[in-house]
Amino acid sequence: MVKVGIDKIGFFTSPYFIDMTELANRRHEEPGKFLIGLGQKQQAVIPPTQDVVTLAANAANKILTKADKDKIDTVIFGTETGIDNSKSAAIYVQALLGISKHARSFEIKQACYGGTAGLQMAVEHIRLHPDSQVLVLAADIARYGLQTPGEATQGGGAVAMLVAAEPRILEIEDKRSFYSDNIMDFWRPLYRRDAVVDGHYSNNVYIDFFKQTWQTYQRDYHCNIDDFQAMAFHLPYTKMGLKALRSIVNQSHHPERLLAQFESSRVYNACVGNLYTGSLYLSLISLLANSETLQHGDLVGLFSYGSGAQGEFYSGRISEQFDRRPLKTDMEAMLSKRQKLTISQYEEMYQAGLPLSGGDKQFDTASDHSPFILEGRHEDQRIYRQN
Ligand code: COA
Repeated sequence: MVKVGIDKIGFFTSPYFIDMTELANRRHEEPGKFLIGLGQKQQAVIPPTQDVVTLAANAANKILTKADKDKIDTVIFGTETGIDNSKSAAIYVQALLGISKHARSFEIKQACYGGTAGLQMAVEHIRLHPDSQVLVLAADIARYGLQTPGEATQGGGAVAMLVAAEPRILEIEDKRSFYSDNIMDFWRPLYRRDAVVDGHYSNNVYIDFFKQTWQTYQRDYHCNIDDFQAMAFHLPYTKMGLKALRSIVNQSHHPERLLAQFESSRVYNACVGNLYTGSLYLSLISLLANSETLQHGDLVGLFSYGSGAQGEFYSGRISEQFDRRPLKTDMEAMLSKRQKLTISQYEEMYQAGLPLSGGDKQFDTASDHSPFILEGRHEDQRIYRQN
């Protein structure tokens, strides 16, 4: 069978962040709760001049060549913070980036699972059409509201993945397990910008779905935990993945190895926060860039979870051609260039987006130097610009 998987991967987030110790102090919480209890050091703050379309366009812009743009025949956008109830965010990105108009473009939704659904659809498409390429986008802005328990687990950003035959990063295996159930742990009614969440219930369901999919995967593919060199998790906050890993790590003869790899897999998520659909893939980037022990051919398990809820466990092998250095250099350059906001500045920026009630709006774009920005809204249309 032809090898198919992630050939290129790119990440983009806001140029602004807050420090979690400062947020804890302002909210009269012990900093240890956010830093250790949740495992978060910093949180991306998304300015009004960025939405999921620009975040995704900025992420994809980092990885695509002109030849890729001509070859891509499908653009799949996974998001739960879409900008329109009808038109997909994928069409905007396709146009902004100059991707072939002969591609088909669409958006998919199942909470934080949408990126994985897109990735697996892309893999199946390339198995049938190995000469083509698919662009998978996973972009979100995680909002729970100021002074809510979920506030410490906000964030935002986008991951763009080019899926192709003979991939140079991760070969995705044709092995996976699913578990789904109709539950209300997290959702966002159409009239709300901020999510409704039953956080503790959500944590329990996440662990339950992880165990269900892990057991099914082991049973169906006759494997055990020590076949895996590392596991990457959907990380709404980084302690969540650690809790999931701890729930099975005693099955391993080398628990310390998996726990050490987990530390590599959460470095960037701890500095960005939650990006819903993209969180598992930011964790994968973090693992790939920061692990000094992962080798070509090593098997990585990936757990994807989308509230509501859908879980999937699947696996991939590190490609022979993979080189972690350019990925690490790019990630560290981007994160180190960000500007720290005071908590008051963050609170102001948080409220500054396009009003749900509609109306024209023009943003001050002078301080956003990202390649793609949102200028505002005119006659119910979002106005995008390339810098
Ligand atoms: N030092 C170290 N740890 C501390 C601490 C301190 N001073 N104070 C508290 N903690 C720990 C707690 O023990 C707890 O850890 P545990 O879960 O391992 O027991 C953790 O910090 C969080 O404390 P908790 O009291 O549970 O926080 P909370 O009730 O304010 O809310 C969430 C935490 C995660 C439930 C909340 O942020 C939330 O709902 N986030 C959204 C989750 C989400 O997105 N779910 C859907 C997608 S999967």
